[in-house]
Amino acid sequence: MNPFIVQGYTLPELFCDRDAERAALEAHFQNGRNVVILGERRMGKTALIRRSLEGRAGMTIDLLSCLDLREAVEKIGWALLAREGVHNTRHTSLWQRFLAQFEVQFTADPATGAPQVGIRLGAGRSPQPALESIGAYLSRLEPGFVLCLDEFQQITHFREPGAEATFREWMQAFPAVRFVFSGSHASLMRAMFSEHSRPFYQSCEMMELKAVAFADYAPFIRRHFEADGRTVPDEVLEAVYRWARGTTHWVQAQCNRLFDRAGDPNLQDVREVQRAILASLQGFFGQIRNQLSPVQAATLTAIAQSPDGIPQPTAMEFLQRHHLPAASSVRSALHSLERLELVMQNDTRRWMLADPLFAEWLRTR
Ligand SMILES: Nc1ncnc2c1ncn2[C@@H]1O[C@H](COP(=O)(O)OP(=O)(O)OP(=O)(O)O)[C@@H](O)[C@H]1O
Ligand SMILES: [Mg+2]
Repeated sequence: MNPFIVQGYTLPELFCDRDAERAALEAHFQNGRNVVILGERRMGKTALIRRSLEGRAGMTIDLLSCLDLREAVEKIGWALLAREGVHNTRHTSLWQRFLAQFEVQFTADPATGAPQVGIRLGAGRSPQPALESIGAYLSRLEPGFVLCLDEFQQITHFREPGAEATFREWMQAFPAVRFVFSGSHASLMRAMFSEHSRPFYQSCEMMELKAVAFADYAPFIRRHFEADGRTVPDEVLEAVYRWARGTTHWVQAQCNRLFDRAGDPNLQDVREVQRAILASLQGFFGQIRNQLSPVQAATLTAIAQSPDGIPQPTAMEFLQRHHLPAASSVRSALHSLERLELVMQNDTRRWMLADPLFAEWLRTR
């Protein structure tokens, strides 16, 4: 079995580090604090949530597919139903109140014929009372039940206005439930929880998920190769980590492919694996670039040339070196690229591509 997972979360021994984050989350849960988990794309937010919920009462709902409050409430309701079972006998009156909000449908899985349960909000029912019935039930489950809403920024795109206020009121109405909000769109998430005029302003603890430190990742990788009777030189570990800029998913993706090859991995293997990963992303990156305006594409490509970031992409010297147009055009392109989460400023306020592999792809094309 390949010990380097590239999807979701499976076993604790295949999950690297995050001890400090898990301890911090545990302390938040124990002390009744709700949490927002922020971080760059593919850093491991969702996997951390899954790991932290292991052995504790809770559930995670991914809101990415939901277009409005109704769909979100149906998805949360469905998760609760799947967890408790239709014939649940705990807290009977609260359970009946919850079920009364929904129409439960039994269907057969078209592929396997296995019975499936689905739920929809009952005809003429509005989402708010259903949400309230879910909160009331969750409050009576195990103390400190953890409800994680992943891809939570999706509520800012809901068809109806006011979804933020609805969720904020819901959270406040049920202090016995611990809420975790997470999302892959860091700037939308940050804005929702830190802008003064928004309902969730300063209502939660903010947890920034950074890259796993090299000092923690290297022994994890080495250990899994050694368990297979193989040795990994330091230079290989460094090359893998640096190329990925520590982004968990890209470290895992390289290790997964390196493990798949025979023998002790060397730098030549690393280069081949990196080329294969970039090749697999060719269509994806090409499509993103084709959707950009010429100035946006040129600005992105220019920034990508410096893996360590650019302090001032509108400085005359930078514009001239990369044959970019006037500073005002580049500034507005930069804002658009930031909104699209394609560029970001790092801790030292240097501009860089949000995805280290996209930068590499632009550099090596
Ligand atoms: N601590 C870890 N150890 C090993 N693999 C991990 C760890 N954390 C995450 N991964 C792996 O890295 C990948 C990215 O993780 P995950 O999907 O949790 O990131 P994310 O931050 O939620 O991404 P997105 O921003 O796209 O929502 C997954 O393939 C996951 O299996
Ligand atoms: Mg995620």
